[in-house]
Amino acid sequence: MNHFELIGGELHAENVPLSAIAEAVGTPVYVYSRATLERHARVFKAALAGLPRSHVAFAVKANPNLAVLRVMQREGLGADVVSGGELARALAAGMAPQDVVFSGVGKTATEMVQGLESGIGQFNIESEEEGVELAALAAALGQRAPCALRVNPDVDARTHAKISTGKAENKFGVPIDRAAGIYARLSALPGLDMRGVAVHIGSQLSQLEPLEEAFGKLGELIAEIRAAGLSVTHADLGGGLGVPYKAGEVFPSPEEYGAMVARVTARWDATLMFEPGRVICGNAGLLLTRVVRVKRSSNNTPFVIVDAAMNDLARPAMYGAWHDFDAVRPNGSRMAAHIVGPICETGDTFAMDREIDAVEPGDLAVFRTAGAYGATMASSYNSRGFVAEVMVDGDKFAVVADRIVPEAISAAERVPDWLD
Ligand code: LLP
Repeated sequence: MNHFELIGGELHAENVPLSAIAEAVGTPVYVYSRATLERHARVFKAALAGLPRSHVAFAVKANPNLAVLRVMQREGLGADVVSGGELARALAAGMAPQDVVFSGVGKTATEMVQGLESGIGQFNIESEEEGVELAALAAALGQRAPCALRVNPDVDARTHAKISTGKAENKFGVPIDRAAGIYARLSALPGLDMRGVAVHIGSQLSQLEPLEEAFGKLGELIAEIRAAGLSVTHADLGGGLGVPYKAGEVFPSPEEYGAMVARVTARWDATLMFEPGRVICGNAGLLLTRVVRVKRSSNNTPFVIVDAAMNDLARPAMYGAWHDFDAVRPNGSRMAAHIVGPICETGDTFAMDREIDAVEPGDLAVFRTAGAYGATMASSYNSRGFVAEVMVDGDKFAVVADRIVPEAISAAERVPDWLD
């Protein structure tokens, strides 16, 4: 469910016609709906209401825009961060440090110290080596770092290979069969407060079974660690719940997910933590673009060339991902087309042989479900700058990220004297 609907023949974001945003801010531009973000945060929290103790940390990587993070903060969510930059954003958005979880396989010493000095709630450590290093840094600051050990359960998440994280060959977490030993050794370090375990097997999951299998294995690990006389008070179940990208696709609902979690964890007696990203913000955003040209091709299917490109929305080029493409003012007729951006490589293709609303040069159109892993994965390739972001709230909207023009990027570059 989202708040991007046709009103009087024109696609609106809540009550704002998209043409008004294009006119004021230009295209391409990401448009987020506050009401949709809030709704998804509430639906996710409500789905967990039956659990005795839970904490939801929004995966900042999905959409780190400060205004989006503020909406999450107002809804009572914390943050799952994976870099010093994301940690700074979460705090800048007003999140309480104790509501922040720091994940990631390659935290640097500087980032770990940043987390310690900020007083974050939990480090999800991904290797014994990282734990030893964090213990030393924390001890030097006179602290005990609250930690969960991320395990790799060797479960196939049945999603795209590039976003699967829970198979043995993936770089994430420690092998589950060695986890109890590592947990015990790390628990002996004075700089660490080992309080839990964590798992995240991948993103855009379309089925609950792989999650259930991973959580089942985590439950056995918790029992094994406790049997060794150590304490486990927290279990972080990660994110990963997928969303439909094509009209008509059906995915497990947050309610079904919550019910499965409640069943599997019924006897865990631990605070459960969650790191949802896409399911909260995915369909709360779209990428508004303008058709530059419609070009005849070698067969009958034209190229619809839009002003957005793979640098603005990388998912199709990177994962072969599908984003629905709709005209802002559909005229009722349809056409078959290839949808491409202006960038000089064939990978800059959003869709091949797609049946779409008929469009002409100058028309506005949208790529839907672009609120997660959209703007945040942008680059300035082909010196195109960075796209602007707008948030809509009822009948008003605000620019929540300025467009960064190519000149602003080249202003940070220098030609050394010795090239004169
Ligand atoms: N927690 C951890 C440790 C993660 O690595 C991720 C995502 C999440 C939570 C949030 O997962 P979500 O609920 O959003 O599925 N760029 C890719 C997605 C990469 C996901 C990386 N990790 C894409 O555009 O599909």
